[in-house]
Amino acid sequence: MENLKARSVRVILGTGGTIAGRSVDAADNVGYVAGEVGVDDLVKAVPHLQGLVLESEQVAQIDSKDMGFAVWKRLAERVAHHLAREEVQGVIITHGTDTLEETAWFLQTVLAPGKPVVLTCAMRPATALVPDGPQNLLDAVVVAGCEGLTGVVAVSAGWVHSAQHVCKVHSYRVDAFDSGDAGPMGCVEEGEVRWFQPLASTVLASSGAEGRLAKISAATALPGVALVTSHADADGRVVLGVLALNSSQQGAKTEGIVVACTGNGTLHRALAAALGQALASGVRVVRATRCARGRVIPHVGDKFDSSEGLSPVKARLALSLALLPDWA
Ligand code: SIN
Repeated sequence: MENLKARSVRVILGTGGTIAGRSVDAADNVGYVAGEVGVDDLVKAVPHLQGLVLESEQVAQIDSKDMGFAVWKRLAERVAHHLAREEVQGVIITHGTDTLEETAWFLQTVLAPGKPVVLTCAMRPATALVPDGPQNLLDAVVVAGCEGLTGVVAVSAGWVHSAQHVCKVHSYRVDAFDSGDAGPMGCVEEGEVRWFQPLASTVLASSGAEGRLAKISAATALPGVALVTSHADADGRVVLGVLALNSSQQGAKTEGIVVACTGNGTLHRALAAALGQALASGVRVVRATRCARGRVIPHVGDKFDSSEGLSPVKARLALSLALLPDWA
């Protein structure tokens, strides 16, 4: 494209998910295949997007349950490439709902973008009787055009959630995401965004990520971090299995363990004993809470670190990134 005005283009990157899902029966909202419809066709399905300056690119075409480092790396590189273009106003990513919150946190941590990066999704396939993807995509494009918005956000069912707080909380309903205690950042109403707080007070810092993309691009894998849960009758066998594998020198070492704890970071004593062994062997241990709301409030003398408010899956990712050489 030539002679494009500064910040006039929005780029839509497709990665798959139910938003790109296809079902044999239009009334079947569960027996479909995710990641089938190309991003160009998703855009064409929303007539209201015509007239806007949009570009689209297929970065991946997967069910996001299979998300992993290779796609994240490519996605981060493509997002960074487009954001660096003066004419680009923001980037929209179509994504599966199942790991959307992890991708959002990965991109925020690695890029801390100074322009909007908006993930969107759907709970019903593109071929459904009443798909939710087209409205979500339209709303996401609106949010990506917002003046003053920086960083990674998620848009679904009319809500705007921050990368830090967004969490999938329902397995089936169209309104499947929540921001816990923080609440959503805003909502999209008839093509307008209503922010619930002044933007400056809610967006995450768009700095502090210098050099991180280069480290991601140079890496072939993320350090191994396991996620375990404390529960009634828990024991340490999963953790002890991890330690046995580490000492067998077979495969990549598990360098960290995140534990989804009960309540305010408490652990079944048998699991705590095994995690103590893990810590003594040099494995980093971080506690998050398995409660849907709240965080682990650290206390003097805690044996294990806390996740600083991150959910178990985001804490797992954060620890894995932190274990990369020279990450800081
Ligand atoms: C996926 O996460 O790719 C499938 C499920 C969904 O998008 O709702």
